[in-house]
Amino acid sequence: MPHKKNLLLLVLPIFLVACGEVEDTRPGQPVAHRQQAFKDILRSFEPMGIQLRQDGYEAESFLTHARQLAAVKDAPWAYFGADTQYPPSKTDDALWRETETFTAERDKFLQAVEALLAAAEGRSVEPVRAAYAPVQESCRSCHKRYKH
Ligand code: HEC
Repeated sequence: MPHKKNLLLLVLPIFLVACGEVEDTRPGQPVAHRQQAFKDILRSFEPMGIQLRQDGYEAESFLTHARQLAAVKDAPWAYFGADTQYPPSKTDDALWRETETFTAERDKFLQAVEALLAAAEGRSVEPVRAAYAPVQESCRSCHKRYKH
């Protein structure tokens, strides 16, 4: 049934665009890689926030997530090469003009993650809570400036 097949080929790209699922077709897929890397960061970061917000701190499981976050924290940055702002990227134009500030934001994040891991190793909730906040603030601060 050639007719039906043609219809599907027409509809599929519209569906993908409507869902915001533009595919990264560039060589090496830098945008897809960094977005995946940020998803990995979120995946390890989110459960820690849930524990703290719900008064459900569990030292060992928290430490596991803190170690995971430390393990994935370096992944996105190598994919922010020149000329890598194209769909589906959500980077703001400012990022490419303000590379020094962006790097400073990144370093603040990396240090905060290290400090969170050190606190998690202490297995005591108050220092952990205090060390969690700067990591969260570093995500927010960078997203506010450089992601839309
Ligand atoms: C130094 C800047 C910076 C820091 C720090 C940062 N991000 Fe991001 N993040 C970005 C940028 C820029 C993008 C957009 C990337 C793109 O679309 O090309 C992004 C995208 C994301 C995305 C969306 C990925 C997708 O599939 O579109 C998630 C989720 C995310 N970040 C989570 C986090 C979390 C959680 C933290 C903190 C624990 C964090 N980020 C810290 C800059 C940062």
